[in-house]
Amino acid sequence: MKNRTYCGAPNKAYDGKKLTFCGWVHHVRDLGGLSFFTLRDHTGLVQITPDPDNEDMCAMIRGLHHEDVLKVTGTARLRPEGNVNPDMPTGEIEILADSIELLSGSKVPPFLPEEAEGVQEDLRLKHRMLHLRTDKMQHNFRLRHKMYQSIRRYFDENGFCEIETPFLVKPTPEGARDYLVPSRLHKGRAYALPQSPQIYKQILMIAGFDRYFQIVKCFRDEDLRSDRQPEFTQIDVELSFTDEEEVQEIVEGLMVQLFDEVLEVKISTPFPKIPYAEAMLRYGSDKPDLRIPLEIVDITDVFQGTEFKVFSSVIDSGGAIRGIKLPGCGGYSRRQKDGLIERAKKFGLGGLVYFWHNEEGIKSTAAKFLTDEQMKNVFEVTGAEDDDLIAVAAHTNTNHVAFGLGAVREWTGKELNLIDESVYSHCWITDFPMFEFNEEMQRYQAAHHPFTAPVIEDMENFADDPSKIRSRGYDLVLNGSEIAGGSIRIHQRDIQRRVFELLGFDEQEADERFGFLLDALELGAPPHGGIAFGLDRMVMIFAGVDSIREIIAFPKTTTAISLMDGSPAFTTEDQWAELGLKTVKKVETDNKK
Ligand code: AMO
Repeated sequence: MKNRTYCGAPNKAYDGKKLTFCGWVHHVRDLGGLSFFTLRDHTGLVQITPDPDNEDMCAMIRGLHHEDVLKVTGTARLRPEGNVNPDMPTGEIEILADSIELLSGSKVPPFLPEEAEGVQEDLRLKHRMLHLRTDKMQHNFRLRHKMYQSIRRYFDENGFCEIETPFLVKPTPEGARDYLVPSRLHKGRAYALPQSPQIYKQILMIAGFDRYFQIVKCFRDEDLRSDRQPEFTQIDVELSFTDEEEVQEIVEGLMVQLFDEVLEVKISTPFPKIPYAEAMLRYGSDKPDLRIPLEIVDITDVFQGTEFKVFSSVIDSGGAIRGIKLPGCGGYSRRQKDGLIERAKKFGLGGLVYFWHNEEGIKSTAAKFLTDEQMKNVFEVTGAEDDDLIAVAAHTNTNHVAFGLGAVREWTGKELNLIDESVYSHCWITDFPMFEFNEEMQRYQAAHHPFTAPVIEDMENFADDPSKIRSRGYDLVLNGSEIAGGSIRIHQRDIQRRVFELLGFDEQEADERFGFLLDALELGAPPHGGIAFGLDRMVMIFAGVDSIREIIAFPKTTTAISLMDGSPAFTTEDQWAELGLKTVKKVETDNKK
């Protein structure tokens, strides 16, 4: 509407001006028969007062409901001295209404926007529009908008071309399940929704676009968590004739600009680079939160020749014994110690051995199996002081030790308030293994994805021990969250074929699934590489929220349901039949959400 004033605008300077506002009824107050109310839009609140002699208007105001939508025309005037509200940005002004028009009524809402934070999340998700009306959510989405604009400008200014890739695609394996879209015209066949535009962006490089980016939805049918949604947004980036250093420099430039423009925070670059093996050893994680000032230490050597069976068997089988000092936790109760053990057990550990001091000297839960010398050395090697607690883990599987102590490290960091929330801590994780052996499937899997280039010098291990091959992949971690992942890609058809083979695709299967990429690699493929950011995770950190559902306008629950629109919805037999499909199991239709 032309000539409309936003509710949050009026200040002293508006005194005497005739203004028109549109918005939602926030609060109606009745002061001894005289009712007035606050009107709200996305900019704030303004107080509307009727002419006390206008009985129709006064009656109308008394009949208003929360969240009714109104158009109000009136004159701004300074509030009398005692009525100024210093907590309200427009608190020096009130609007003496000439006319109030009800544009749209609201029935009694299930909760008021201002109460949203206190109600159950399911209710908030069902009536999403009410939650989105709150200042906090309005702020989150306007911040997200600001990030989009800054990102687009950055890539444009750096010579990147924004190109859309299809949503109905051939499956691109990224490790999760695909969402399938059955084809009506080609019965028995299905498209997949892309888990990422990976292969398409590589083909754009082969097509000569040189620098590509896209802000794009990706779809993964995987278990959901507070930082995972089935559909999420990536900033997808690819460059030709590039290397790790150039990709990382471009990414760091983007982060500097975003922090500066969106949060007015100066961050310094280059970000530290930590090889995967070192991150796993020191932090027990491939996405370490470097704000936590605690480090895990390998103490295997302290126990060489020990008679303690738990430790000696681990040493004999090439496992690891590591410890972490928990500052000031020497006085932890049995219950607190057991609590930590429970956390560590979730990662495959049998338990933890503890070391601490009391007036009698060094104590340990394994004291009777250890020498004084060994116990002293544990303190020395971990750098622990008298009032610290040392948690030690041992296992033949070093990943269990790493992740178990990593969980202890993170939990303790939070519990002891060791994290400075005002700090933004980035790091690159590099030198990932190219392949991981999947015990369940008894075969190798790509640690990133199968298009990641191996470190060429490591290729001599291809036949004997593929687990020794490092990849040219890199992840960007911010405050313990993996916000981006990428790599230099394979651009040689023969190497790509060998990788597919190792991953269990014979020639025919590789051709069926990836023939279009293999063909493209034969038609002049430039060396190329890139990265994709999880934009939602970045917005979470920028907005300072813990749940991805706070920064996606219409998110799904952790069971992948949209409580607002009820998707996924039951589908009629006719619709299935049109797609050449038939349901074989009767589904409960009375449980529709
Ligand atoms: P990757 O699988 O690491 O790489 O994904 C890139 C980034 O996307 C984010 N992310 C998610 N965010 C929310 N919900 C999810 N379910 C989800 N899954 C991933 C993460 C992650 O770092 N094609 C490659 C990129 C490349 O190699 O260029 C890819 O998709 O922040």
